[in-house]
Amino acid sequence: MEQACKPRKRKMKGIVLAGGTATRLFPMTATTSKQLLPVYDRQMIFYPLNTLIKAGVKEILMIVAPEHSGQFLNLLGSLLKKHGIHVTFEVQSVPRGLAEALTLGENHIGDDNVALILGDNIFEDDFAKQIKDFRSGGHVFAKKVSDPERFGVVKFDENNIAVEIVEKPVEWISDYAVTGLYLYDNCCVEIAKNMKPSDRGEIEITDVNRAYLEKKELEVTLFDGEWLDAGTPDSLLEASMIVKEKGISRNFHPILDQAIIEFNEELKIRSKKRLQ
Ligand code: DAU
Repeated sequence: MEQACKPRKRKMKGIVLAGGTATRLFPMTATTSKQLLPVYDRQMIFYPLNTLIKAGVKEILMIVAPEHSGQFLNLLGSLLKKHGIHVTFEVQSVPRGLAEALTLGENHIGDDNVALILGDNIFEDDFAKQIKDFRSGGHVFAKKVSDPERFGVVKFDENNIAVEIVEKPVEWISDYAVTGLYLYDNCCVEIAKNMKPSDRGEIEITDVNRAYLEKKELEVTLFDGEWLDAGTPDSLLEASMIVKEKGISRNFHPILDQAIIEFNEELKIRSKKRLQ
């Protein structure tokens, strides 16, 4: 099986995980998906999409919850098509965990590599170079945080080599959170297929990362820019303020900016027609 995913030049496919129930954002998420809530002047989902589009990823699978699939289709169904970016959708019937993206996305990934990004993660940094240069193994991006117990956490040895990775550690192991952008070679599909749910009942992305770490094939890169995980009312508000202050939504890839402008125009035309 390993043979089938041996390193060779492959395309990079994209997956955005935009399902889940987001109970911490109730009642806002009773009527819409967390990733469709606004962060400053646009829906949250545009930020992770921008990270992939900036890196030239042209085939993107959106994983969405059944109750919000129609809203995602309305927003993204035709937005990027004429700009050469092909967006498809897969419904995740129950939020079984982040690593399920890799099995739900098996056909989409095909023989290629994959950049998986969480639909509620906003990065100020541009990861285009790392995504374009990726060839094999796994590559994740870590950031020092004050509340590591909320995240997947990676521990480094004295030579700054990653040695341990734990999801939401109860006992402190490190202050470095693994953020929500994961680059994997084609082996990730087989790894995810063979995984069992964790004690909290989820198929954990941290277990995929650990599988690469154990093979000594996990690269971990630290980065400087802002990283926002807008999962609570406070962090959602803070995300809007930081995005505005740092001009993050002013720094989008021209394709995505243009697509959003065109969509705005289309909405104006539609609303005029409705008033006639
Ligand atoms: O934000 C980074 C963290 O994201 C990592 O450090 C953790 O290792 C990783 O497990 C994840 O932790 P969270 O607790 O923040 O994950 P959350 O349940 O909030 O889900 C992240 C995104 O994925 C969110 O947009 C909802 C979506 N999701 C989640 C689950 C469990 C799905 O689409 N399907 C799912 O089954």
